[in-house]
Amino acid sequence: MRVMVIGGGGREHAIVWALKKSDKVKEIYCAPGNAGIASLAECVPIGVDRFDELIRFAKEIPIDLVVVGPDDPLADGIVDAFEAENIPIYGPRRNAAEIEGSKIFMKHLLKKYGIPTAQYETFTDYEQALAYLRGQSAPIVIKADGLAAGKGVTVAKTMEEAEKALHDMMVAKVFGESGNRVVIEEFLEGQEMSILSFVDGEIVRPMPAAQDHKPVFDGDKGPNTGGMGTYSPLPHIPQSIVDEAVERIIKPTAKALVSEGRPFRGVLFAGLMITKDGPKTIEFNARMGDPEAQVVLPRLETDLVDIILASLNGRLGELDIRWSGEAAVCVILASEGYPGSYPKGREIEGLADAEAQGALIFHAGTASRDGAIVTNGGRVLGVVGRGRGIAEARSRAYEAADAIRFEGKHYRTDIAAKALRG
Ligand code: AMP
Ligand code: GLY
Repeated sequence: MRVMVIGGGGREHAIVWALKKSDKVKEIYCAPGNAGIASLAECVPIGVDRFDELIRFAKEIPIDLVVVGPDDPLADGIVDAFEAENIPIYGPRRNAAEIEGSKIFMKHLLKKYGIPTAQYETFTDYEQALAYLRGQSAPIVIKADGLAAGKGVTVAKTMEEAEKALHDMMVAKVFGESGNRVVIEEFLEGQEMSILSFVDGEIVRPMPAAQDHKPVFDGDKGPNTGGMGTYSPLPHIPQSIVDEAVERIIKPTAKALVSEGRPFRGVLFAGLMITKDGPKTIEFNARMGDPEAQVVLPRLETDLVDIILASLNGRLGELDIRWSGEAAVCVILASEGYPGSYPKGREIEGLADAEAQGALIFHAGTASRDGAIVTNGGRVLGVVGRGRGIAEARSRAYEAADAIRFEGKHYRTDIAAKALRG
């Protein structure tokens, strides 16, 4: 098969890496890809939003299967566009991807079907939102409705912070149109967990749970990012809690989407908080997590192409899907300044040394320049260590992370530390 992956970040590098292992795959193309993906696939310089050009390219090759990585093209209907041309594509249609594209749609859906999530109110008017906010107390959470690269959420510890976040979103419009509508919701206390599932309609096949670290600094300090590191499995979280989340949240949500005439096919990502009253939904995403994919896909023993083809052919429920018992830890190396503005074009050294140690290096924001690999994004690399348990995987990830050098390299030193504290 000739496969094309849409996207160019660390998640897409992990997807390409997993597809490459399949003996059904002859060639992989990636649009637009990055400097790391280029070692496994042919990178095609077409943006993820250029549906007409992507379709033209897919017909020309011809591509047998398209796999979509990021949220933006899904929210804009890339799956509908390829399906209209009869090109097989894996991912949710626009109406199902709305579970990520609009937080208000997601919250209303969960409320309607009685699925556990934080209490909330939604607003389109700044004065009304402010009046409501002033009747609440901190901590409290303010969210822009639309997509904002994972940064449209403020967990405010004080009322001043909450009012500033609301003003930034609705008046200063720092997230543009995404801030025209906001959700103000109850703060949920507990540990977070991400469960990604292969979903086809009501069929839900959960992957092993993972945990992300969103704030930029150690100890969960500083602003939220797209994710600074992940690990899987979660040895300190009982399987009964994971099962409860699947039965009470993920399966009912898949079913609710079917009832609403928006059947979901693709990877459904549940971001959950394990509260004292059990797991509750923080968010749903319509795609694999980044960097969750980087620790979950290396543990997948079944051929990813078989899973995708089974989904496309209505056989997902019958497939035997196997996972290795090995642990994986991903440490993100970021550019100084991220998630604010950051420099680009700094030369990266030590990649071969890190790989020689056995680490998997997934490129997130890199480019090639005169034969060198340089930084080209906020999140630059995901360094994945694997081992018999989290402790071993973690020390391998950090050894490899230390072998890689670029000016202004920033990473958290406490990824997966929670798992070891218990
Ligand atoms: P989201 O983009 O909705 O996943 O939010 C980003 C991050 O903000 C989450 O991963 C949580 O760490 C945090 N967060 C979001 N909503 C809540 C909430 N209701 N209570 C506590 N933390 C939250
Ligand atoms: N790592 C969180 C996300 O992909 O949204």
